[in-house]
Amino acid sequence: MILGGEIGRAAASLFAQEGASLILADLSLEAAEATAHAISDQSQRIVSTQVDITDIESVDAMVDLCAREFNRLDCAFNNAGINLAADVEWELEAFDRSMTVNANGTMYCMTAESKLMLAAGKGSIVNNASANGIVGSTRQPGYSASKHAVVGLTKTAAIRWAKLGIRVNAVCPSSVQTPMTERSMALSPELRTHLMSMSPMGRLATPDEVAEAAMWLCSDRASFINGVALPVDGGFTAG
Ligand SMILES: NC(=O)c1ccc[n+]([C@@H]2O[C@H](COP(=O)([O-])OP(=O)(O)OC[C@H]3O[C@@H](n4cnc5c(N)ncnc54)[C@H](O)[C@@H]3O)[C@@H](O)[C@H]2O)c1
Repeated sequence: MILGGEIGRAAASLFAQEGASLILADLSLEAAEATAHAISDQSQRIVSTQVDITDIESVDAMVDLCAREFNRLDCAFNNAGINLAADVEWELEAFDRSMTVNANGTMYCMTAESKLMLAAGKGSIVNNASANGIVGSTRQPGYSASKHAVVGLTKTAAIRWAKLGIRVNAVCPSSVQTPMTERSMALSPELRTHLMSMSPMGRLATPDEVAEAAMWLCSDRASFINGVALPVDGGFTAG
């Protein structure tokens, strides 16, 4: 699993409560270790490691570590991603970086993870896309394009590996209530009004609600769900 941040921590906690052994990987080893520490009493076994998902060798090393430590990979939650403030200004550098991390990074992760899963003839991958991977963003071209790419990759991999025992799905959250979102809304009352106006349910998603959807899609309970980009958005993309 690729984790870090509030959503990653909520997912790690939920997977641990379901009895999973975990590999927690993040660009920041500190973040991965902090998550591991926070849930250490919930999981049978946790291994933390550093990974840069834009570097295929680094991603391969993460999956090799998983193979050495656990000898298998039942499911993967590809949750790492970036959302750059400069993207709002239509900056090409922000566009390129968004594509590199969110789209290429997800492709590299799925490629490496699938090798272990294909060898076992079984596996489930869930990518964290976004509601902006289903509908366009009013503000961020790079974020929206890269998350549409994640949805496209999800569907293509789902078809490619369907007969080989691997399911691939995506969760597509609208804005999630994290400390970062809270800080941004505190600085900009307009942003708060904007985000709330986009939510039919009048609130943001919680990290736990995203984690629940990812957990379900990863699990055998969703055994015939494949190639889905599941909105976790309180009805935002229904409009
Ligand atoms: N927070 C929201 O409102 C929201 C809404 C929809 C989708 N998402 C998606 O959910 C995921 C998690 O978001 P979050 O809000 O918890 O963000 P976050 O910034 O708290 O966590 C993202 C994590 O990804 C890691 N990361 C960034 N670049 C990396 C790289 N090159 N290699 C490895 N790790 C890297 C970061 O270190 C960080 O720990 C992202 O993919 C994001 O796009 C978030």
